[in-house]
Amino acid sequence: MNTDDTVTFTTQFEEDVYTGLTDFPKHLSSKYFYDKTGDKLFQDIMAMPEYYLTNSEHEVLSLHTRPILHAFDSQKEGFDLIELGAGDGLKTKILLKYAIANKYDVQYMPIDISQNALNGLSNSLQNEIPDLKVQAQRGTYFDILKQLKTMSTRKKVIMVLGSNIGNLLHPQAIDFLKNIQEAMNPDDLLFMGFDLKKNPQTILDAYNDSTGITAAFNKNVLVRINRELKANFDPSKFKHWETYDPETGTAKSYLVSTERQDVEIKNLDLKISFDAWESIHTEISQKYDHPIIKWLADESNLKVLDQFSDNKNYYANYLFTVK
Ligand code: AVI
Repeated sequence: MNTDDTVTFTTQFEEDVYTGLTDFPKHLSSKYFYDKTGDKLFQDIMAMPEYYLTNSEHEVLSLHTRPILHAFDSQKEGFDLIELGAGDGLKTKILLKYAIANKYDVQYMPIDISQNALNGLSNSLQNEIPDLKVQAQRGTYFDILKQLKTMSTRKKVIMVLGSNIGNLLHPQAIDFLKNIQEAMNPDDLLFMGFDLKKNPQTILDAYNDSTGITAAFNKNVLVRINRELKANFDPSKFKHWETYDPETGTAKSYLVSTERQDVEIKNLDLKISFDAWESIHTEISQKYDHPIIKWLADESNLKVLDQFSDNKNYYANYLFTVK
């Protein structure tokens, strides 16, 4: 909200939208894609043939279920599997089904920002793996990182799938990993999915599908600003644009204004002008290679214990311990 010459905000969303759209060049955070519509669009993305990430990680977990579980708890002494951003848990169920069938003493602690997702997951787990102990918790990564150390008294295996780390720039990714590392005891493990560098065209296609689902996902941030902050963006006057730099491994999403236009955001008392072809940067989706993952681990006081890949080497799940 704008009062005289100071600007105060009632939510982080308001502040971030204000800061991002008054900055040059303009930007908005991809964390704001995920309202109810955005969650649904992301589900649709994961089901698209172009978005190989989901199938690749599914393949990694299916191909290597046994050694992964063995690495989690070789003596079957018991552990808590804490998943940050559990979503529908589809891939995790591969590990959980195997663990229960093979008498691992595992408690599953899914964490997600969406209560809806957690309810759906808890219900489906109850039906599919009735013997599994589940303790779901709603929260953001940020809330949970603060509680992680005290959340469990047993061995912890912290899991982050889906290459979610890829939505962070390297310095933020290192902060995130350091925060996790600080919550880990010497026996605890971190199991994390990384999307790997590959044919640049494959990556571009994954983020620029022909049916326009990713474009709708990207533009959803404008729809959300319209609804929540009383703005008048016309999403049809923005073009979804994707780039991929094979040198840095960074895929970037933009919304590009197709004409000169003015937009009003009533709740922020703000008018924004766009030049024709001016961009808003909305997301990065980082792609990795093995030396970069090793470097991220080093910087975060983590040690690589093992890694598992799919047959095409599109994707890798890494197991880390505290250094
Ligand atoms: C959630 N995250 C890892 C996805 C990604 O691949 O960056 C979000 C996404 N953006 C466009 N398509 C999917």
